[in-house]
Amino acid sequence: MSQGNYRVAIDIGTTKVCTIIVRKRADHRVEVCGISIVPCDGMSKGMVAESASVTVAIKESVEAAAADAGVEVNAVYTGLTGSHIESKNRWANVPRSEGMRPVTDLDLSAAKKAAGAIDLPDDRRLLHVIPRSYALDGLHGVRNPLGMHTGELHIESHVITGSISKITKLHNAVFDAGVRVSSMVVEPLASADAVLTADEREEGAVLVDVGGGTSDIAVYHDGSVVHTAVIPVGGFQFSNDLSIAFAIDFESAERLKIKHGTAAPELAGMKEEITLHPTTMSQPLTISKREIGQVLKERTSELFRMIQLKLEEPHLADIPTDRIVFTGGGAKLDGFLNIAKYIFQRKVRLASPRGLDGMPEGTNDPAYSAAVGIALWGMRNLPAENHVDERKISHTSENSGTATLANKQTAGALSMIRGWLPKRDKETAGT
Ligand SMILES: Nc1ncnc2c1ncn2[C@@H]1O[C@H](COP(=O)(O)OP(=O)(O)OP(=O)(O)O)[C@@H](O)[C@H]1O
Ligand SMILES: [Mg+2]
Repeated sequence: MSQGNYRVAIDIGTTKVCTIIVRKRADHRVEVCGISIVPCDGMSKGMVAESASVTVAIKESVEAAAADAGVEVNAVYTGLTGSHIESKNRWANVPRSEGMRPVTDLDLSAAKKAAGAIDLPDDRRLLHVIPRSYALDGLHGVRNPLGMHTGELHIESHVITGSISKITKLHNAVFDAGVRVSSMVVEPLASADAVLTADEREEGAVLVDVGGGTSDIAVYHDGSVVHTAVIPVGGFQFSNDLSIAFAIDFESAERLKIKHGTAAPELAGMKEEITLHPTTMSQPLTISKREIGQVLKERTSELFRMIQLKLEEPHLADIPTDRIVFTGGGAKLDGFLNIAKYIFQRKVRLASPRGLDGMPEGTNDPAYSAAVGIALWGMRNLPAENHVDERKISHTSENSGTATLANKQTAGALSMIRGWLPKRDKETAGT
């Protein structure tokens, strides 16, 4: 087999760095060869706040995943998120020679170029130009115009931009860890690739990845993305609210949320009481599950209002978005879907990532959707390239190594997942 089929995806999240090394097999399925999850406390709301500690976490994560897979990593795809990400849909005329003639591959390349020809302010960079549809002599809604005859060709595309300074900071943090960034993928697109079904993309669905510091949104319809947005609110704010409400340290609040938290206190046992031993207090603290739930319910409702506002964009008015698919660690909060169903009055589900073979037990979790999606998005949409040093690949035949690697990863990845608690986001105040 060609060994140029390895890709490395790094999700540099607000709470953890997750590196996944994948390879495409001869049967075109994509399998995991190495994975590692390392806590990271240098990010704030999805963006680099303390470069040095982010670099340390990336280096550790890449080295552990590389050891797992028995390869040496030299390039990676990274995810990118933060409220600097902006998107819009635009139409562009595709310049071509006059007269009626079939649309060629060259025309499609010219179309993508025309779609991305935008004047951007000094600090903005184009990240993605995703063709949505074409118009042929005024006939709209053509998805694949290749070979069709037309005089005029127009393209509708979804264009995503980001802040150069924020992108450069992330790029440098990865570079300083000793690997080259071959491409960046915005995280709402990545997560959507890992969790949305073909039917959801086609018929209309909203993806929301609720992470530690951001909630990433992508709206799909007719098979492609129609809207992306990032809200700078995630699980951190939920824990921070508990920390403030009960005057306890952040780590105790985080544990309280995960173990006893609910967004639907009316469904929780009203009088069930929890006794805490916060490190900041000399006396134990007793609070009811209902009190904890009241705080979390308010934050959940506030986040949902912010999501609702993002879905009220005029260009989404005619898009059927009656399904919301949640993923990300923050969406695992007990009662989250009950409140979502009630507030949005739509079908809701919590999704784990799909599409990669051999995910070790314990990593098939909503928190890893973006990492899986970065690998899948890169494999599907970016030019073929190899991210690992082929001389260091330890196995020799197509199927060798897979089982042993998977077993090794299971032990390695799980010990890392269980052994840490997400650290406090750098911002001290809630949003
Ligand atoms: N069972 C649970 N209940 C509630 N919250 C949870 C649970 N498990 C994890 N979380 C929360 O999920 C968040 C981490 O999610 P995730 O790993 O998806 O974030 P991230 O990718 O690091 O951050 P971001 O995508 O925002 O940059 C943390 O705030 C954590 O408290
Ligand atoms: Mg994330």
